[in-house]
Amino acid sequence: MADATTDTLRAAVIIGSTRDGRFGPVAADWIAGHIAQREDMTADLIDLVQTPLPTVFPAFGQAPSDEAMAQLRAVSPRLAQADAFVIVTPEYNHSFPASLKNALDWHNEQWHAKPVGFVSYGGLSGGLRAVEHLRVVLAELHAVTIRNTVSFHNYGEVFGVDGKPSDPGCDGAAKAMLDQLSWWGQSLREARRVRPYAL
Ligand SMILES: Cc1cc2nc3c(=O)[nH]c(=O)nc-3n(C[C@H](O)[C@H](O)[C@H](O)COP(=O)(O)O)c2cc1C
Repeated sequence: MADATTDTLRAAVIIGSTRDGRFGPVAADWIAGHIAQREDMTADLIDLVQTPLPTVFPAFGQAPSDEAMAQLRAVSPRLAQADAFVIVTPEYNHSFPASLKNALDWHNEQWHAKPVGFVSYGGLSGGLRAVEHLRVVLAELHAVTIRNTVSFHNYGEVFGVDGKPSDPGCDGAAKAMLDQLSWWGQSLREARRVRPYAL
């Protein structure tokens, strides 16, 4: 039987953008690499290009089409199994991309009582406006957002050809965010096991 206090957390790392030529996978691989070096969590990389979700919702009370169900089956169980999430998001028009909102909207209880950390990137704002918008949406989905974020402003000048940021301070920021994610992930998993979240 798994020990709720010591077994590793499953962290789903979600690449929020689906644009051709996107930067998202570079940032996602970098943070997944940080997770891989830790003993307290493992990463499951969810790429909304490799596993796209439907964009047409069924009428209220209707089941999704067979095709939509097949797409959902590639993503939804992985979100359900996750103990924690890291959302990797750019900033699109002062918010987060539609592909990410679609992934959030297709799910509900998969987010409940689980922590969400952020890695954001963009121009001067470093994607922070996208993160602040995500916090509001995730509160509606009963998720808990992590205080510390990792954000890259003008990311093209920060990341080298090796796919890593040149400033070692970024590694410290990643550790701080993941330490907080781990604390919340362990604590909320323990709480869900003792008191299932059905609110
Ligand atoms: C539709 C669109 C809107 C954008 N709006 C903003 C913005 O409001 N603020 C910003 O800092 N960057 C903005 N950008 C620049 C993106 O942050 C940058 O291009 C980033 O690489 C996009 O992420 P991606 O490469 O993963 O698609 C925008 C880019 C796109 C495609």
